[in-house]
Amino acid sequence: MQGSIFTAFSELVIEQQGMAAWDEMLDKVQPASDGIYTRGQQYDDNELFDLVGALAEKTGLPAPDLVRAFGQFLFDKLYNNMPPNVGKIEDFREFLLAIDSVIHVEVQRIHPDAYLPKFEYDDTEDGDLIMYYESKRKLCHAAEGLILGAAAQFKQEVNILHPECMHDGAKRCKLIIQIKD
Ligand code: HEM
Repeated sequence: MQGSIFTAFSELVIEQQGMAAWDEMLDKVQPASDGIYTRGQQYDDNELFDLVGALAEKTGLPAPDLVRAFGQFLFDKLYNNMPPNVGKIEDFREFLLAIDSVIHVEVQRIHPDAYLPKFEYDDTEDGDLIMYYESKRKLCHAAEGLILGAAAQFKQEVNILHPECMHDGAKRCKLIIQIKD
């Protein structure tokens, strides 16, 4: 996974738990990188999963909640570093639809060694947006957090349902995004 994801994670931990907590987590996990991450470089996904595990143990909070909160924090970092070729998108739903076909495609073009999740879209009868998420990393709770972060950016109120989940054995996660007008 990209270094930018790891630097965001370390920033969040240091901001909320302090530098000593981050150092303690590194001591425990002993990541191959020594916890020194550079944007644009790739690091082993397991380092992130192990660090999340250490944070869950330290805080006593469930890992999915921590990953969701991380996704929300990460959104602003990613949004402020959007690839220049992605035009300005003003509409929230349009933005969500652009993740798979425009934004992540552009990320992949710039970083050919990156692995990006796959999203497929559908509409419910009520007009809600369905996002099917699939990735070997099963970071569906990060996806939820990223969508919440995007909603805040676009000043939209949303409710996210997650009725089918890869963590429960589903082939892909089903996220239903209810956007309140
Ligand atoms: C609501 C908006 C977004 C959602 C739901 C989303 C979803 C995700 C998820 C869940 C991941 C974790 C990797 C995985 O699941 O396999 C990811 C990775 C990533 N996303 Fe997005 N994303 C969003 C917006 C953006 C934006 C605005 C950018 C702008 C640059 C971006 C760039 C990236 C990058 C660089 C990675 C890391 C890829 C890697 O390390 O291999 N994403 N995204």
